Amino acid sequence: MGAPDLTELAASFQGRLLTDAADTAPFLVDWRGRYSGLALAVAQPDTTEDVAAVVRWCAAQRVPIVPQGGNTGLSGGGTPDASGTALLLSLARLNRVRAVDPVNNSLTVEAGCVLANVQQAARDAGRLFPLSLGAQGSCTIGGNLATNAGGTQVLRYGNSRELCLGLEVVTASGEIWNGLRALRKDNTGYDLRDLYIGSEGTLGVITAATLKLFPLPAAQMTAFAAVSSPDDALRLLALAQQQLGAALTAFELISDFCIELVERHFPELRRPLAGHSPYYVLLESSDSDGEAQATERFEGLLGEALAGEDAPGRPTAAPCITDAVLASSLAQARSLWAIREHITMAQMAEGKNIKHDISVPISSIPAFLEQVDAELERRFPGVRVVNFGHLGDGNLHYNVSPPDWGTAGHPPTDLQALQPDINRVVHDAVIEFNGSISAEHGLGQLRRDEAARYKSPVEMALMRSVKQALDPLGIMNPGKVLG
Ligand code: FAD
Ligand code: MLT
Ligand code: ZN
Repeated sequence: MGAPDLTELAASFQGRLLTDAADTAPFLVDWRGRYSGLALAVAQPDTTEDVAAVVRWCAAQRVPIVPQGGNTGLSGGGTPDASGTALLLSLARLNRVRAVDPVNNSLTVEAGCVLANVQQAARDAGRLFPLSLGAQGSCTIGGNLATNAGGTQVLRYGNSRELCLGLEVVTASGEIWNGLRALRKDNTGYDLRDLYIGSEGTLGVITAATLKLFPLPAAQMTAFAAVSSPDDALRLLALAQQQLGAALTAFELISDFCIELVERHFPELRRPLAGHSPYYVLLESSDSDGEAQATERFEGLLGEALAGEDAPGRPTAAPCITDAVLASSLAQARSLWAIREHITMAQMAEGKNIKHDISVPISSIPAFLEQVDAELERRFPGVRVVNFGHLGDGNLHYNVSPPDWGTAGHPPTDLQALQPDINRVVHDAVIEFNGSISAEHGLGQLRRDEAARYKSPVEMALMRSVKQALDPLGIMNPGKVLG
């Protein structure tokens, strides 16, 4: 059978259809340049009905569909395989704000809305949409929901899943399910919304979402603190939770090596504290009280952390931080966040790396790091761990870069060849500590086989049943999430 006739598809929907290699190229390689593929064409629908027409055509022709939003995913979920048989479905033009209801604290947007624009639409209505991540200038809300993205505010507001009230989905057979319910309570059977969230385009296409909004904080405090160890970082977390309660919105761990990489590749971003400490914490509070009260509480917290008082139930009286800077202006707070948000780019600029996205119970993090740091050094001397992440959620991007060839006299390392062995050390330990091998980035193609390795046969069989029920033809993003 030859390739399907695209003129029929072009006639059946009103969006754009790209077929020239120069036009389709940017859609066919992932953000990291780790995966590349080919496609029959790139379809760019403008409306939900357009999406449905494309999906119906694909179902009739048995053409696989790879949905794509902003193409910032880090697990290769939005890149087709090399066969060139799939249709890449870009949702980027489906980007209207449909409705905002400040009284109900809800906002309905189309899947291709860029996250930063969703945040702005909420602000324009005097509300907060709290999902925040480094890629927010280009990732889409559809992609965020499809990957159940986390980011830096999960501690207070939850993952994308918790921020979504309702969905509109084009099913794998091309029907439109309108589940755009703006309800906080709805117990009417199986939760289809939660099935589609985090399914990475393997069950259907998200075309719109109704999102939860929150009051805008009256004051935000941001500080960058030096800690001697992950254990001290956890002591600071306990103290901050005790003192700030729900106002603590972000708690990020950053190793000194991450700061070195940012300094090396983005010299305009300056190290916030003099000297070196093994780790740093970037913490933020968002208060409904005014500026003066928020400042007093935050300064009180940092003072206690420096002086050595501890949270109740944790009797040690030693200081948990060795130094700190409290941002005194919005610009200073932004520059502290810029350092955190440039780690991924700095690590890319440094060269190839192995990405991890692990979570373990927060209390286990110091023991996990001690064990895995030592085991990696024993098995792969000189490898450089780029450890940072959302410590408040127990989620670390425990990434690995090859040895520094220039200084240590190591022979060039074929990192790709080492990946299975390095993954085994890290992921076996994650499972030993009752954790997850993907906290927020999803499985895509990068972690698909790793997940199958660690999940029980019962869990895998249930996942396959869901896939079979919702996508019986197997055309939705084949080869992602499930093999
Ligand atoms: P894409 O990359 O286009 O797609 C991702 C997956 O979703 C693919 O499987 C795709 O098929 C599917 N998909 C996309 N749109 C739809 C749709 N409408 N319907 C069905 N399926 C769809 N993630 C975090 O969780 N936390 C972070 O802090 C974070 N920081 C990041 C920082 C940087 C610099 C970068 C580059 C990425 C970061 N990410 C982070 C990764 C994150 O998953 C993505 O940025 C984002 O959620 C993906 O959105 P996207 O629109 O780019 O999706
Ligand atoms: C982050 O928290 O910055 C991201 O999830 C990106 C990454 O893992 O590189
Ligand atoms: Zn992250």
